[in-house]
Amino acid sequence: MKNPQVTPLISEAEIKARMKTLAKEIAASMGNEVMVISLLKGSFMFTADLIRALHAEGVKAQVDFITLSSYGKGTTSSGTVTVSRGISEDVSGKSVLIVDDILESGRTIDFARKLVSDAKHVKVAVLLEKPGKLAVEIKADFIGFTIPDKFVVGYGLDYANSYREIPFVGVLSSAA
Ligand code: IMP
Ligand code: MG
Repeated sequence: MKNPQVTPLISEAEIKARMKTLAKEIAASMGNEVMVISLLKGSFMFTADLIRALHAEGVKAQVDFITLSSYGKGTTSSGTVTVSRGISEDVSGKSVLIVDDILESGRTIDFARKLVSDAKHVKVAVLLEKPGKLAVEIKADFIGFTIPDKFVVGYGLDYANSYREIPFVGVLSSAA
């Protein structure tokens, strides 16, 4: 096993299958043009797969990236969100889809929503949701998978900037 400290939770095949149904849900609700605002770093892999799945559903996607962070190097959120790279596209009047890797306290998405307040509509897609941990009132419109309250890595998600390259989502054992 390449990463013995990572126990698989969601397989590559499950992610791939969910990408198609998620793109169908988004296309049905948002129409055929979206401005994707992807929150780095964690959502780069999800964004790349999601926009290709959206393409298969006939949706044109413009893309921009914002780099926000709230975790630092640990496994619990610091509670403060900081921006290290802001928005570079004009979102005014557009249908914006904020894409993030995981919704936990909701602070990251709450912060991102404020950066796109000029948009015509804003919807939120997350790959993962850990329920019951919200600190602010935020809801994702599209959720890939609901997971237990465990620290997960892979498919873009990290622990201290490692494990992002793992192609599935797994639980990181405390020994890591
Ligand atoms: P929130 O602001 O508390 O909703 O946290 C969301 C952000 O925290 C995500 O964008 C992730 O970067 C990070 N995060 C939360 N839970 C995990 C996890 O289990 N593994 C890796 N990163 C996580
Ligand atoms: Mg993140």
